[in-house]
Amino acid sequence: MYVLVTGGTGFIGSALLPRLRGDGHEITVLSRGRHADGGGIRYVRTLDEIADDATVDAVINLAGASLNGRRWTGAYKREMVESRLDTTAAVVELCRRLARPPSVLVSASAIGYYGDRGDEPLDEQSSMGEGFSAELCRDWEGAAREAEALGVRVCLARLGVVFDREGGAFAELSRPFRFGIANWLGSGRQYLSWVHRADVIAAFAFLLEQEDIDGPVNITAPAPVTHRELCAALRQKLTTLPGVPVPGFVMRALLGEVADELLLAGQKVLPKRLEAAGFRFHYPAIDSALGQLLGKP
Ligand SMILES: NC(=O)c1ccc[n+]([C@@H]2O[C@H](COP(=O)([O-])OP(=O)(O)OC[C@H]3O[C@@H](n4cnc5c(N)ncnc54)[C@H](OP(=O)(O)O)[C@@H]3O)[C@@H](O)[C@H]2O)c1
Repeated sequence: MYVLVTGGTGFIGSALLPRLRGDGHEITVLSRGRHADGGGIRYVRTLDEIADDATVDAVINLAGASLNGRRWTGAYKREMVESRLDTTAAVVELCRRLARPPSVLVSASAIGYYGDRGDEPLDEQSSMGEGFSAELCRDWEGAAREAEALGVRVCLARLGVVFDREGGAFAELSRPFRFGIANWLGSGRQYLSWVHRADVIAAFAFLLEQEDIDGPVNITAPAPVTHRELCAALRQKLTTLPGVPVPGFVMRALLGEVADELLLAGQKVLPKRLEAAGFRFHYPAIDSALGQLLGKP
């Protein structure tokens, strides 16, 4: 297949490209940076570089300004929204002008769609939550769904918190533990719906092939954990002193709104549709995932 990947240079994209190449696909990556083409990967800086008669069989849409790592000022919130909605609108516009539209668009979204939901089990039929992240995901998904009218199968990949050894949220969350201090954030009772990056990559490849799946698909491990449970699992692998939980008000003072939206809010999200379709997770439970992530089986 000829696969277009937006944001293919990022944390998920950089692991996805080798997998797609390994599956025999030709790849075009949309990136704002300058990169040398090679190894079956071509880079474009705008989708205008793709001709109307080009073959694009599938699109994976990942681009967007990072949600963590920066304080959410008004200007940065606009950038988070516009980078996603503008790229997605450009993808839909490409689908419209191609002589033969792609058969599938797998467009990233996030479990932030569900808002802060305590210990309520959430599947793809659950309602939307409240807050900035929920509204962003709703609008991002809505923009992607515009391609449905063109006959494109649209999968909305509601990603959990992606864990990997190299970068992403796990590196941040596990850092105090590596220095021998165990702690959790806020009350610690909030759920963290994590997923190993290897399973995210496998799920994207799976969704490209599964012609009978469209709409929202949760990409989270089948066994979400509370922050306290994650803390206990980490302490089984790493020797730590019992630490002091970081209170919510400290996190709010340090990080602002991002603390409430991403770290103190919880969602217990279940990958109902992936499991019903027969997708097998390499890392369904936190213990085996941590064994791989920490190199301590
Ligand atoms: N990682 C997670 O835990 C997680 C969880 C839920 C949802 N997601 C979503 O999944 C997608 C991929 O995640 P990721 O972790 O791979 O993200 P990432 O590492 O931040 O990469 C996203 C890519 O988007 C492009 N980008 C960044 N800022 C942009 C801007 N202002 N305008 C246009 N493009 C921009 C960048 O590509 P260039 O610099 O090459 O243009 C970057 O490589 C993101 O949209 C993210 O919100 C991720």
